[in-house]
Order: sequence, then C-alpha cells, then structure tokens
Amino acid sequence: MKKILISLLAALGFMAGAQASSGGIAWDKVPNKTNDLASLQNGAKLFVNYCLNCHSAAFMRFNRLKDIGLTEQQIKDNLLFTTEKVGETMVSAIDPRQAKEWFGANPPDLTVIARSRSAAGQGTGGDYLYTYLRTYYPDDTKASGWNNLAFPNVGMPHALWELQGKRVPLYETVSEHGQEVHVFKGWEQVTPGTLTPAQYDQAVGDLVNYLQWMAEPAQNTRIRVGVWVLLFLSVMTLFTWRLNAAYWKDIK
Ligand code: HEC
Repeated sequence: MKKILISLLAALGFMAGAQASSGGIAWDKVPNKTNDLASLQNGAKLFVNYCLNCHSAAFMRFNRLKDIGLTEQQIKDNLLFTTEKVGETMVSAIDPRQAKEWFGANPPDLTVIARSRSAAGQGTGGDYLYTYLRTYYPDDTKASGWNNLAFPNVGMPHALWELQGKRVPLYETVSEHGQEVHVFKGWEQVTPGTLTPAQYDQAVGDLVNYLQWMAEPAQNTRIRVGVWVLLFLSVMTLFTWRLNAAYWKDIK
C-alpha cells in the first residue's frame, strides 16, 4: 500500500514538473471564479466586444448565455450586433482568408480554446490564456506592432491595449554557469490604459473565466453533482461497513 502511494505521489510530482517546464515563462495563476456569475457576465461582454471581430465561437449560441444569468432582453440589448438573433452562434465579422493575409495566421475558433490549450500542456489552459492576454508589448519589428512573452512572434495584435496601455518587459543580466543571460524581471508601464493594472488583471480574469465556461458550460453542474455523489458514497460505505459488522457479529 505504502509503495503504491509513493509511486502515485512521484507520478503526480513528475506531471507537475513537466507542466512547469513546458513554456518559456511561468504562467500566472488565473483567479478561480467559475461560479461567479457577475465575473462570467463581464467576461462575455469583453469577449463579444473585443474578440468576436476576428474570432468566432461557432459552437456557442448567444441564448446559452442565459445559463450565466442573463435574460434574453439583456443579451439582445448588450451583446448582439444589429444583424444577429439570440438563437445564432457566435460568428466572427472577419473573412478567414483575409485574416490570414492580414495577420499571417488564422484566428482560431475560441469555443474550446481553454480546453485545447490545457491539452497542449500549457498549464490548465486558463493559466496560459490569463498570462498570454497580459504579456503583450510593443514591437516595431512586427507587422502588427506587437509581440508577446507567452507566445513569441504571435500574429494577433494586442486586442485589449486600450484597457491595458503600453508596457515593456524589463530584463536583468545575470551570470549563470559563467555565461551572461537575460532574465525577465518585470514590467514598466509606458503609457497608461483606461484601466489600472489591478483592474486590468481583474478584467482579463473575467474574460478567461468566460472562455473556460464556454469550453465546458456543464462544468459547474458536474462539480455540484460530483460533490453529492461522493458524499452519498461515503455515507453508504460507512453504513455497509457497520451493517457487515453487525451481520457477522454472532457468527465469528
Ligand atoms: C485583430 C484580430 C484579432 C482580435 C481582435 C483578437 N484576436 Fe486572437 N488571434 C488573432 C490571430 C490572427 C491569431 C493567430 C495568431 C498566430 O497563430 O500567430 C489569434 C490567436 C488567438 C489565440 C490562440 C493563441 C495560441 O496559443 O495559439 C487566442 C487564445 C486568442 N487569439 C484569444 C483572443 C481573445 C481572448 C481576444 C479578445 C480579447 C482576441 N483573441 C482578439 C487575431 C485576433
């Protein structure tokens, strides 16, 4: 038993180590707010306003947003552009071929991006997205004028730059095994955004929260049901164990 436990722990440790070393920079942890409806609603609003211009979410219908507490009227008034109906899926405004020409890459469909990035070993997916959307910096050598620490040479410009403002990464030179290496040290805000850094982190947290929900809308229900199932099983185990003891008491 002890042996099994030790090898299980070792396997877990190995998995954690493998995840941590898969990227150039460490992913920041996205705040866990998957049950927070206000956060999900704010995320949906940011998504529709800042991401749907280029990306689609072809497997998400607008009326599914009722699951995060929005009424049909609120969806109509705040999240739909003139031509859309609530029963429609989230399609992007851009022609994919044109996008490829402009950005050098196709904007992927974002319905399940949180899940696909987690499958690609990029942390929980959510952590990667949270880091990615907060590590843009201006770069004149790029066609879009932007570059990104989490996704070097990305084709996507900084869609949220008005909110975040412009920041540049700072490096320090340290010597490692006798070699000079540049190590990322932190950020310097060059021009302010309409949000403070703390507000921006919160907004991106909400947006990623929404992306995670969209990738798995049934997740919250499943966790709730799962907790009850586990409780039920523990009570049943206890019950069966005592019943078994009572049953055999006189025979032993
Ligand atoms: C101006 C067009 C444009 C806008 C607006 C835009 N994107 Fe993108 N996005 C792209 C393009 C182009 C790519 C492909 C980049 C590449 O592969 O180099 C991309 C890629 C991505 C990726 C994939 C990154 C990866 O690891 O492969 C994610 C996630 C993403 N965008 C999220 C967003 C979110 C969230 C928003 C809204 C805040 C947004 N995008 C707004 C054009 C856009």
